[in-house]
Amino acid sequence: MSVQTGTKRLTTRDIQALKQRGEKIAMLTAYDHVTASLLDQSGIDILLVGDSLGNVVLGYETTLPVTLADMIRHAAAVQRGSSRALVVCDLPFGTATDPETALRSAVAVLQETGCQAVKIEGGAWAAPIAARLVQQGIAVIAHIGLTPQAVHQLGGFYRHGKTDAEARKLIEAAQALQEAGAFAIVLEMVVPDLAAQITKLLDIPTIGIGSGPDCAGQVLVINDLIGLGIGPAPSFARPRADVATIVREAVTAYIADVKSPTEEPPLA
Ligand code: KIV
Repeated sequence: MSVQTGTKRLTTRDIQALKQRGEKIAMLTAYDHVTASLLDQSGIDILLVGDSLGNVVLGYETTLPVTLADMIRHAAAVQRGSSRALVVCDLPFGTATDPETALRSAVAVLQETGCQAVKIEGGAWAAPIAARLVQQGIAVIAHIGLTPQAVHQLGGFYRHGKTDAEARKLIEAAQALQEAGAFAIVLEMVVPDLAAQITKLLDIPTIGIGSGPDCAGQVLVINDLIGLGIGPAPSFARPRADVATIVREAVTAYIADVKSPTEEPPLA
């Protein structure tokens, strides 16, 4: 059971200790103050200010147009809305292309938001980037498998690690990123058996999305969990609420009230 009360903010060591104790890590995205506050009060371990901000909040088709300034504004709101969860901010497309660029981006994120860690997408090639950040005392989550910032180069959204060659590449990337000092690694849309194998091989926690139940933790986009989206949620998401319908019904009732006002009962 990972829900704890109290206001002490979780650290990277606390997150790693969850894996060591065999407790699963619960991570969700958040992009604004009120949502962060609700998830934090519910006991979420990690709040990820993902660059899915682009799709979910800003109405872009991909994460590519999201800027560092967008991420900083939203990460600062999430940080202000939370007191217990570890807050992680994505470095968006083009802001972590090499170690020095990534360092400048990560320093801006940490200084301007107060959040505790950054996440970078990329395979083994991203290990020197992670290493540079870690060398400067910055906590890093790596992200392999489906990396949405590379969607055009990958040619779409699909499961990764299906062939032996792909699986070997993912295992090598995971090991290189752990070696570089990442404190956790997101496995997105990785074949579940391979995700389980990587989870066993690594000391650091794996956090899965669409990668089966055997990762050390799970992450979801909050809108997919609560049914607050325009289209259907991804097949792996299992929505727990239908907030879109609640909003539509409340707004429809409001419009009806405004258009045909009824007599309010007198105040007691
Ligand atoms: O941007 C994001 O929300 C993410 C998660 C889906 C892992 O990277």
